Amino acid sequence: MEFKVNNQLELSSYDVVVLPLCEGQSVDHKELLDVVKPYLNKDFFEAKKETYFTISASSAEKPVQIILAGLGKKEEVYFETATDVIGAGVKQAVSKKPSRVAVYLNELSDIVCSDKLSAIAKVSALASYRFDKFLSSSKEAKKLESLTFIDSHEDAETAVERGYSLAQSILIARKLVDEPANIMKPKKLAEEATRVCNEVGIEINVMGRSEIEALNMNAFLSVAKGSDEEPQLIVMKHMGDPSSSEITALVGKGLTYDSGGYSIKPTDSMMTMKSDMGGSAAVIGAMHEIGKRKPKINVVGIVATCENMISGHAYLPGDILTSMSGKTIEVVNTDAEGRLTLADAITYAIEKEHACRIVDICTLTGAVVVALGEEYAGVITRDDNLWDDVYKASQASLEPVWRMPINKALEDKNKSSVADLKNSGGRWGGCCSAGAFVGAFAQDKPWIHLDIAGTAFIETEKPYLTKGGTGYGVHLLAELVSLWAK
Ligand code: BES
Ligand code: MN
Ligand code: ZN
Repeated sequence: MEFKVNNQLELSSYDVVVLPLCEGQSVDHKELLDVVKPYLNKDFFEAKKETYFTISASSAEKPVQIILAGLGKKEEVYFETATDVIGAGVKQAVSKKPSRVAVYLNELSDIVCSDKLSAIAKVSALASYRFDKFLSSSKEAKKLESLTFIDSHEDAETAVERGYSLAQSILIARKLVDEPANIMKPKKLAEEATRVCNEVGIEINVMGRSEIEALNMNAFLSVAKGSDEEPQLIVMKHMGDPSSSEITALVGKGLTYDSGGYSIKPTDSMMTMKSDMGGSAAVIGAMHEIGKRKPKINVVGIVATCENMISGHAYLPGDILTSMSGKTIEVVNTDAEGRLTLADAITYAIEKEHACRIVDICTLTGAVVVALGEEYAGVITRDDNLWDDVYKASQASLEPVWRMPINKALEDKNKSSVADLKNSGGRWGGCCSAGAFVGAFAQDKPWIHLDIAGTAFIETEKPYLTKGGTGYGVHLLAELVSLWAK
């Protein structure tokens, strides 16, 4: 699909035109006005916020549909109003299976700055995605050929390009998550990461079982034991500042499937567990974006990927593991597997890649979904500066974050009487004790943790997103890295 910018609208060149308007606003474009004028009234469309109206018109040459999208009062068009409304308009447009779609922004020239235009381009690209490759009907369906933004700002092209580029990285993550677990096995995830990294010049190294064994990553290996699929340790590097010895690690949870293991999940909870590699998808997508932007900073992306399964080889409740760090862990619940893989991945980041700052991102707890829903990621850190930076990045990426607490009492929930730690601190405050467990492996390094169990995969549609993988975290991590670049 092609993304274009044009400063003028030729109606007959498109199958569908999305026309966002504010209340009381008229339309300068003559041809467009002729078509929409009869409908710009209280019986049809008043441009109230989040209202939509479709007009089927036929010019001399061919039929065209106009989707009027209401932005509400002009002085109240915030960033999110623009992205939600225009994104939803594009989503409606794409559902009509057109070849060519235009988004007409010339009427909004005084409120759409280049940052807003970037965000609009980003969500429009996201709105045109659906995971339909396994639908027989999608084989015959016409594919969207182009999406054109009609905008006459001088910097429109760069702004649209920036948004489009980001969307490509986000779409990588969405596709990885949407792919079912019978296909997206650990090896496949490593292959996809390799393809993505090669595309943008990111160095990548993938390690298999024997290397992981040699590293003594026994917590990670224990989780992988029940599966026939070989675990993989994926290490992606962008050394953008060779003059510096500082290295930032982005560590993503990569469970390609989480059945719960012997502490088995109920049927319904298992339904969405192909998405338990959402953190790793965010890291891979972010590395793709970083590879394109080439910021002056050293970043290493780390994913310890495997499946959490049941078999005669699986790990068991009551097992005591010795993690790569030397810390011992009592397994009190085999379904608290993510933190075990992250523990070793973080130790690897520090010991082997010399990371001095750690960001981990993971679909870690059901508790964070109960607390914050599908809207906010739960963030845990003891470092206020790191929190400020993540918050700033999230404001720019429009991916909401909420800080969750950590203190000694929450850390102490992970104390065991037979090992240094146990892998679950129980139900209450589950998101916080889980975060504290992961943090116990960050040694003295600045560390921040993003629990995206609610945001990585949605079961209810959003204005510009279909159900399924959201790509949450890709933009945020890329933004964060840019913020830290020299
Ligand atoms: N992958 C799950 C967390 C999850 C839940 C992700 C819902 C997405 C949606 C994680 O491995 C898990 O099972 N966590 C347990 C921990 C508990 C056993 C301490 C949970 O949250 O129930
Ligand atoms: Mn689990
Ligand atoms: Zn899990």
